[in-house]
Amino acid sequence: MSKLLQLLSLSLIILISQFFHISHGDVGTAARYSSPYSPTQCFGSDPSQFPSSNLFAAAGDGIWDNGASCGRQYLVRCISASKPRTCIQGQTIQIRIIDYIGTAPSLPSVNGTTIVLSRTAFQTIANSSVDVASINIEFQQV
Ligand SMILES: *[C@@H]1O[C@H](CO)[C@@H](O)[C@H](O)[C@H]1NC(C)=O
Ligand SMILES: *[C@@H]1O[C@H](CO)[C@@H](O)[C@H](O)[C@H]1NC(C)=O
Repeated sequence: MSKLLQLLSLSLIILISQFFHISHGDVGTAARYSSPYSPTQCFGSDPSQFPSSNLFAAAGDGIWDNGASCGRQYLVRCISASKPRTCIQGQTIQIRIIDYIGTAPSLPSVNGTTIVLSRTAFQTIANSSVDVASINIEFQQV
């Protein structure tokens, strides 16, 4: 390869990685929790708080924002995990924050994560045949 071509491909790689860096959100961790999900800190026992997709989550300390995160929507995708073939490639979900994990009626699979996903949400982005308590995620508020 000529020097010019090398330089061109290098700039292209830098451009592409910058583009992906800008278009993506923050990096964090996600655990899962299961039923009972109600009552929640955000909306009590109101059954209409649960989206029909069942894609919802409880906020961890990092994004709870003293309750301001209630009802916020996030795009979430799995980027890595402690075991191979955990992340389902190309799968992004949009979830709604309905609770604070510190006061949720059920415990998370692991403490201290950014977000705690409903069973359905977790299984949509992570391979349910792999036994992991948490995954690394990229998330972005919408
Ligand atoms: C899910 O995990 C199982 C067990 O490790 C593996 O055999 C399978 O290929 C994985 N599926 C995907 C979609 O990665
Ligand atoms: C998380 O913390 C709670 C309360 O301190 C504790 O009861 C629970 O066992 C912890 N969960 C894990 C998976 O360590």
